[in-house]
Amino acid sequence: MTAGRMLTMPLRKSEDIVRMRQALREHAVAQGFSLVDQTKIVTAASELARNTVEYGGGGEVEIVELVNGARKGIRLTFADHGPGIADIALAMKDGYTSGNGLGLGLGGAKRLSSEFSIDSRPGEGTRVTITRWRL
Ligand SMILES: Nc1ncnc2c1ncn2[C@@H]1O[C@H](COP(=O)(O)OP(=O)(O)OP(=O)(O)O)[C@@H](O)[C@H]1O
Ligand SMILES: [Mg+2]
Repeated sequence: MTAGRMLTMPLRKSEDIVRMRQALREHAVAQGFSLVDQTKIVTAASELARNTVEYGGGGEVEIVELVNGARKGIRLTFADHGPGIADIALAMKDGYTSGNGLGLGLGGAKRLSSEFSIDSRPGEGTRVTITRWRL
């Protein structure tokens, strides 16, 4: 597997999320994603970016284009140094929110991704990595 273009963007405020969505859409087009696949990865990324801003106190996203033989994909890593998540299994449950959201962001992002991983430590921060391969 080889990594192609990569880009890191800050996620501190809602304008940053708009910019990320535009950049990600462009990378998805470059990787040959269908319109449906573009929308899926942009939607998943928007949920994770909102969490980074709202709960993580801001952070950054890394966008990486992947090539594995004939397969093309995109890997996204969202990282913050916020309060972290004490109970990851609970946070992943549909309907669980510690704020006033719907509690569907993490589960939704996982369902929209080919691969999903989350690593979080209370007091240290949170890192969520998703990959979507072109169908
Ligand atoms: N980066 C993060 N740092 C700290 N806590 C987080 C982070 N991301 C998610 N969480 C915790 O996980 C919970 C569930 O997140 P999820 O995105 O599924 O739902 P939500 O953000 O509460 O609501 P929704 O995304 O549906 O508007 C959040 O309420 C929050 O407690
Ligand atoms: Mg959310």
